[in-house]
Amino acid sequence: MPRKLAAGNWKMNGTRDSLTEISALFDAAGGAAEVLICPPATLIQAAASAAQGVMIGAQDCHTEDKGAHTGDLSAPMLKDAGASHIITGHSERRADHGETDAVVRAKTEAVWAAGLVAILCIGETLEEREAGKTLDVLAEQMAGSVPDGVTGDQLVIAYEPVWAIGTGKVPNTDQIAEVHEFMRKKLTDRFGQAVADDVRLLYGGSVKASNAAEIFAVADVDGALVGGASLKAADFGPIVKALNASA
Ligand code: 13P
Repeated sequence: MPRKLAAGNWKMNGTRDSLTEISALFDAAGGAAEVLICPPATLIQAAASAAQGVMIGAQDCHTEDKGAHTGDLSAPMLKDAGASHIITGHSERRADHGETDAVVRAKTEAVWAAGLVAILCIGETLEEREAGKTLDVLAEQMAGSVPDGVTGDQLVIAYEPVWAIGTGKVPNTDQIAEVHEFMRKKLTDRFGQAVADDVRLLYGGSVKASNAAEIFAVADVDGALVGGASLKAADFGPIVKALNASA
């Protein structure tokens, strides 16, 4: 299994004319790192049929497989459309939709039941960091939202400090290293060393071509979850290349 993963989260951006940005990643995508784009659900099917060398994922799913849940999409439906990965617990969904750790855990289990890979997001707010509570918050999120029975090919964890998302602010490399080492230790304590080593840990929050190489050089950083800079191949391609160079 490739250790490195460059994942793009398009959030609520993109229409069919954006699909060319995925095909334009072809050159950058030929290296050692896996490349994933999570477009809005409306584009998954078209993106999955057009993408070469780029995996396609979804940004959320329901906890149930099917039923009376107007407007929602289930993990099996997203798999049927062509998704290989589903993001769970993004801070924007925790904030906008009140998703608790228990909900995120149930969604992650639904992703696994469909045979897909979950990219589970955790991260502290600025207030929590300034109060010195970062590691406590992350420990609580991991305990509450990571299900039992983790395997390295089913779970990726993305550390996305809420204050770094879309702000241009990035934690320094010591802060990223501290958190990633902590996440690996928590996984080791709960699931054992072999599983903990297999789970990929991504950093997310204002990753750009200009800071990617520095972030990818940090121990225990296995890639990135990128928002704004994943929308254009001209921005995301160099990030993928920086990850390939670090692999
Ligand atoms: P930005 O890269 O735009 O800061 O977003 C990060 C993110 O939330 C990815 O899921």
